[in-house]
Amino acid sequence: FLKRRKSWSRYPPGPTSLPFIGTMLQIDFHNPHLSFTQLSKKYGNVFSLQNCWRNLVVVNGFKAVKEALVQKSEDFADRPYFPIYEHLGYGENAEGVVLARYGHAWKEQRRFALSTLKSFGMGKKSVEQRVTEEAGFLCAAICSEKGRPFDPHFLINNAVSNVICSLVYGERFDYDNKKFQRLLHLTEQAFNEEAGFLPQLLMVVPWLLHIPGVPQSIFRSQKEILDFTEELVKEHRTTWNPTQKRDFTDAFLQEIEKAKEHAGSSFNDNNLRMVTIDLFTAGTETTSTTLRWALLYMLLHPDIQCKVQEEIDKVIGRDRSPQMEDQANMPYTNAVIHETQRFGDIIPVGVPHMAYRDTELQGLFIPKGTTIITNLSSVLKDETVWEKPHQFYPEHFLDADGQFVKREAFLPFSAGRRVCLGEQLARIELFLFFTSLLQHFTVCLPEGQARPREDGHFAMTLTPHPYQIQAVPR
Ligand code: HEM
Repeated sequence: FLKRRKSWSRYPPGPTSLPFIGTMLQIDFHNPHLSFTQLSKKYGNVFSLQNCWRNLVVVNGFKAVKEALVQKSEDFADRPYFPIYEHLGYGENAEGVVLARYGHAWKEQRRFALSTLKSFGMGKKSVEQRVTEEAGFLCAAICSEKGRPFDPHFLINNAVSNVICSLVYGERFDYDNKKFQRLLHLTEQAFNEEAGFLPQLLMVVPWLLHIPGVPQSIFRSQKEILDFTEELVKEHRTTWNPTQKRDFTDAFLQEIEKAKEHAGSSFNDNNLRMVTIDLFTAGTETTSTTLRWALLYMLLHPDIQCKVQEEIDKVIGRDRSPQMEDQANMPYTNAVIHETQRFGDIIPVGVPHMAYRDTELQGLFIPKGTTIITNLSSVLKDETVWEKPHQFYPEHFLDADGQFVKREAFLPFSAGRRVCLGEQLARIELFLFFTSLLQHFTVCLPEGQARPREDGHFAMTLTPHPYQIQAVPR
């Protein structure tokens, strides 16, 4: 192998590989974005690593990431295969959307997911109404804390999750539903189980997963999440009327019926589980984590919170609910939300891509099949792009007249063929939940509580460490 690698002239440079383990000891898998940024200082914006015998290339900084994701979108549109999910039914024609190889099944599922979610209101007024209603439930639950200190974590998770659950499963879950709360905890636990050295090792030495009990004992939470969604699908089957489409699951069941004649279709029972779990996890963790960062930043920067509230009072007032139309008249609030996404940096190393064909990046040779890590953190904090990359500074998104400005290097949703499928939905949720919360409450640090940490905890997503707030009704 080393011989082959040497023969690739212009292959990206990188640290020396050790036998078997490759360069794995160079990476802190609990903070990979920090390790990558450090290594890019030595080896440049495009450098190579080796997880055992698997070749990886890490792409850093706005220019190189844009070239990979936008200019050469198809060359880098593939995903590596994820054997660690096989025990859940992930495999040929059942790869879901997020982790599907670039090809027919992914295209079919991505197109279907986008059009079906749109038909149930994603990006339209009806989803706005759904979010507004949920924001109302969330504010009522926070109000019942009566200004006492509390951790908003799972209330926010539940509220956000209800939006995607109602689209996918046609159901929302009350905030005191023990079973659903357990599912939300398990989802977070699953992210923790999938981070770190061992899962990375299992990705490249998948035969270890065939040792009886290994996947079940390492990835304990995944199976329980699968069982929960399985139950929801079973309920659908028993109450299903093929002439009616209540939600995404019904629409998928209809496609399974249609595809029964075609062996090898990606509309099958296994893939129904994979796709709905993808939408559930991608649609819950990301948006709720961003909202938790937003509240934390408001707690830490009361002056910024005050300016947002002034804008809310001026444009919306206190009596009616926020609407997406208000966004155009609220440049400061919009800038604060964008800055939260930039500085919160919630998916710092993106989702792994894979080179779909032999190609070039920044003049370097990238062979087909190389795993590509797009270091989104290095884009959102690129020192050559942002004025104050390491500070929370909403002015990044405002011009001299206080008007909102888009920034090209704002890539929290990634870009290109694999760009986040739920971006539209996420933007609606972030704006409506955030403005509703600050319309009703001022969040502050409970008396005697130490200043919360500003660094994050990495487990696929970068989440705030636990903190408490006091939500004072306005
Ligand atoms: C993919 C970010 C919300 C569904 C992604 C990716 C990122 C991302 C970085 C990987 C793109 C790539 O591979 O280059 C975010 C952020 C969100 C958010 C920051 C919220 C603030 C959502 C929501 C949904 C969703 C609400 C639910 C519909 C997906 C799916 C993919 C994806 C299905 C896989 C796309 C594919 O591989 O073709 N997202 N996301 N996301 N996201 Fe999101």
